[in-house]
Amino acid sequence: MAQDAAKAPVVAEAHEVDTYHPPKKMLEKHPSKPHLSGLEEYQRLYKESITEPDKFWGRLARELLTWHKDFQTVRSGSLVNGDVAWFLEGEINASYNCIDRHAFKDPNRVAIIYEADEPTDGRTVTYGELLREVSRVAYVLKSLGVRKGDTVAIYLPMIPEAVIAILACARIGAVHSVVFAGFSADSLRDRVLDARSRVVITADEGKRGGKLIGTKKIVDDALRQCPDVTGVLVFKRTGADIPMTKGRDVWWHEEVEKWPAYMAPERMSAEDPLFLLYTSGSTGKPKGMMHTTGGYLVGAAATGKYVFDIHDGDRFFCGGDVGWITGHTYVVYAPLLLGVSTVVFEGTPAYPNFSRYWDIIEKHKVTQFYVAPTALRLLKRAGDQHVRNEMKHLRVLGSVGEPIAAEVWKWYFEVVGKEESQIVDTYWQTETGSHVIAPLAGVTPTKPGSASLPFFGIEPAIIDPVSGEEIHGNDVEGVLAFKQPWPSMARTVWGAHKRYMETYLNVYKGYYFTGDGAGRDHEGFYWIRGRVDDVVNVSGHRLSTAEIEAALIEHAAVAEAAVVGVADELTGQAVNAFVSIKDGNEPSDALRKEFILQVRRSIGPFAAPKAVYIVPDLPKTRSGKIMRRILRKILAGEEDQLGDITTLSDPSVVEKIINAVHEAK
Ligand code: WTA
Repeated sequence: MAQDAAKAPVVAEAHEVDTYHPPKKMLEKHPSKPHLSGLEEYQRLYKESITEPDKFWGRLARELLTWHKDFQTVRSGSLVNGDVAWFLEGEINASYNCIDRHAFKDPNRVAIIYEADEPTDGRTVTYGELLREVSRVAYVLKSLGVRKGDTVAIYLPMIPEAVIAILACARIGAVHSVVFAGFSADSLRDRVLDARSRVVITADEGKRGGKLIGTKKIVDDALRQCPDVTGVLVFKRTGADIPMTKGRDVWWHEEVEKWPAYMAPERMSAEDPLFLLYTSGSTGKPKGMMHTTGGYLVGAAATGKYVFDIHDGDRFFCGGDVGWITGHTYVVYAPLLLGVSTVVFEGTPAYPNFSRYWDIIEKHKVTQFYVAPTALRLLKRAGDQHVRNEMKHLRVLGSVGEPIAAEVWKWYFEVVGKEESQIVDTYWQTETGSHVIAPLAGVTPTKPGSASLPFFGIEPAIIDPVSGEEIHGNDVEGVLAFKQPWPSMARTVWGAHKRYMETYLNVYKGYYFTGDGAGRDHEGFYWIRGRVDDVVNVSGHRLSTAEIEAALIEHAAVAEAAVVGVADELTGQAVNAFVSIKDGNEPSDALRKEFILQVRRSIGPFAAPKAVYIVPDLPKTRSGKIMRRILRKILAGEEDQLGDITTLSDPSVVEKIINAVHEAK
């Protein structure tokens, strides 16, 4: 495997047909050359990152970032104690690193390429303009009472102002808490309350796929139950006639006019929180993962540089939304830290037609493209004729958020990339902050379906879930954990450190537990098998079955609910719900629709169950635990493999559930 990437053939010898080396054509069109000379250099540096992390990360942190004050201690704390900290005495500002240092050098360099929902409506924002706009909004936030350490909720569509809002928070040391604008009013309310945000940044309306979204209305609904919110900053996106609450709501365009276009960045300690991002876990309540400034920025910049092979002058396009971690790290932080142009895309891959992504790539000469497999499945199904562009500047095609099937990987490589780009299947999580297992473009050989090798500083362990022991060697399967802390790992769950310890660090003492199953093959490549907890992945969106169940139970007719994920050709997994109803209600299509609506209203449209089965009862153990495993088997048509059901409090419900599923299908 350790051959020089540049000289390697595109596809290796017959005995390892499935190994792809960095394409020769990618290296030929490269503006210079990849940051590493080949796999051997990766291996050398990787070893250093594991055996001498202080030396490795100290060097990278100084190389990639500009510190107001240097650090002396690279790393302290441990996974066992849950007190990990990095770059301790260091002082740094995220917005300075993302903007000022580039703006001072070259104010006219493009920072943001805004692709509006309508292909004709976009514009660009230079680093100089970004500095001015972020400074003004930073002043506005201060005028609304935001102080260093306060959290600010951001509920915005994918427009440049989302990036500006994020960086304005960072500039004054406020902690941004972005809530995906597809979340319902109830979900937004829960996040505003949990983070104790007193200021919300939003827009009048959103525009996506040709449709208007009543963004401000959702905020108004949410804030009805958030009495502590004192300020709402509203960006005028469409000019819709919306109500403004006096004394609370102010217009972005009116406020920014009042303030100067430069504000000095706040000096932040490396471990000061940079942001909260809520994610779903096994239990109902979403967790506010807290990321800190220095470590997170190092992770974002390092993975951007090495995994995506980002070089000066690149134009980076991540299709993820800033409401998710992918958008945080790879729409905003990684590309801007590295001083390149980032595409902010407001629309959908299907509007105005299935060529939209490819048109954007062609128009802006995009060099790296990054998206979830769910979008690729949709576009592959739509037909190759839509991929009509040459896209000859592309060098790297990234995949994220869910496993990518080999045939989709190959389609991406051949049809989209014309075999001239490297595919990087990147495995990571909201909690990890940046990539943890991923190939380095131009360097690491890849196998379709494998996220390949660990990033610097990540020491993976495959653990036997039964014994809790680490399984050493290759050709092994188990659950995935990491043995060492890394700079961009989340430090806590906001206001719930005990939950952080229980979910991630106490499951296997001394390890960080990912919640995913994984295999390590005979060459040490990692294959992510998917979640081993009650988390489902629908179109790359991470959802908690418990959260959806909690939403269903809010409906007056629901007695009990059990939600499981089932394999789905298009969305990866789909949500299926089993509901038992209270006496006095009759099963009907109308009722099923109401249940779906309940989830849409309570969480958001993206969490809506694809199927709802109304059943007389749920399969439960005598102690009352719902056996979701049985429901999964029934949906998979594996009724003959249910295993021992005699332990159920009422084994006869199984038959009834099977009938209900058959009737519905
Ligand atoms: C899954 C998204 C397979 C995994 C960045 C993880 C993946 C969860 C991959 C985190 C991948 C992410 N291959 N599965 N390349 N990347 N996952 O927090 O189950 O939204 O635990 O972060 O997505 O989802 P999250």
